[in-house]
Amino acid sequence: MQENATTPLIDRFNRRIEYLRMSVTSRCNLSCSYCVPAGKLSDNGGCDMLSFRDLLFIADVFARLGVRKVRVTGGEPLVRKGIEKFIAQLAETPGIDRLALTTNGVMLAQMAHSLKSAGLKAVNVSLDTFDREKYARVTGHDGLNNVLSGLNAAIDAGIESVKLNVVVMKGVNDDELEKFAGYTIRNKIQVRFIEFMPHTKGAWNAGQYMPVEDVKKRIEALGALIPCSREQWGGPARIYRLDGAQGEIGFISAVSRHFCWECNRLRITADGKLLTCLFEGSALDLRSLLESGASAERISTAIKEALMGKWEARPGFDSNVNDAQGQVAMRHIGG
Ligand code: GTP
Ligand code: 5AD
Repeated sequence: MQENATTPLIDRFNRRIEYLRMSVTSRCNLSCSYCVPAGKLSDNGGCDMLSFRDLLFIADVFARLGVRKVRVTGGEPLVRKGIEKFIAQLAETPGIDRLALTTNGVMLAQMAHSLKSAGLKAVNVSLDTFDREKYARVTGHDGLNNVLSGLNAAIDAGIESVKLNVVVMKGVNDDELEKFAGYTIRNKIQVRFIEFMPHTKGAWNAGQYMPVEDVKKRIEALGALIPCSREQWGGPARIYRLDGAQGEIGFISAVSRHFCWECNRLRITADGKLLTCLFEGSALDLRSLLESGASAERISTAIKEALMGKWEARPGFDSNVNDAQGQVAMRHIGG
């Protein structure tokens, strides 16, 4: 590959891209209220997914452009057949130093050990409640026990970093904030409180929004929050620890205080669309390029051109926003 394919990805605002979020499927075995528009059954119609071969090719192109961290997402990535082998192959990609996964955890118990052996370094598990009935209500599936087993299996397997993602929804799970924070006392995991974002049309509910400042105040009533330094590969969370706790608490202020100025990521949907922002539409159709037989060099050039359109910041919205603003539904992006 020539010079162009090996120079780093830097956008118009001097942000360097080192992190690629790769969706491997739009299918999901849950239909969470904040992801699937109300009144719709989980739209599992699926899309025309890229083959694992194509995804590996693309990962290699990005690695040559300086991407060091890849996060595999969905839909729910673990429902795609052959995912463990794919992750093992992805881990072999020269240049990819950090391989991570975001999952709802329902199928994690069976796969945690093989994923660890495959080279997975980090797993983020979405869990918004410890209450079995509430879990079934929010996700449409009676799966809480499976997720808890999956979480334990990930820790037992020795996956380096295990995090829990909690989308905070007022009137839904804000009665459990202290419980989630308390979970970090004895468990060496990071619990992240995420602001509910006005992303997917029909799934956003402004009345459920709760800013992390309010969440933080509630947690501070349990004890002082000691700031922790951000990890080398960390995403947007600000991290703290309760005194004496084994685990950490993270806050993701996606609505109240955005972190676009430090954005270091690009996303690919399962059907090969490149997104330069969680809220943007497709900036490039990688699938068409692959089908036309484009070389790695040509694909690299197209990625660099598309990167030039990356917004300085996501659309302006605040907690009063009534409209969801994501152009591609969350199930195609995986967060
Ligand atoms: P780490 O690498 O472990 O820090 O994870 P991460 O936070 O980058 O990824 P994860 O998939 O766990 O996402 C956690 C939450 O952060 C989800 O709600 C994502 O939608 C949100 N998030 C991740 N990246 C972005 C981003 O670029 N912009 C916005 N607005 N939210 C993001
Ligand atoms: N706001 C905030 N987080 C969301 N997620 C999905 N939709 C939203 C939203 N509208 C979270 C999931 C998962 C992560 C990848 O994104 O809970 O943990």
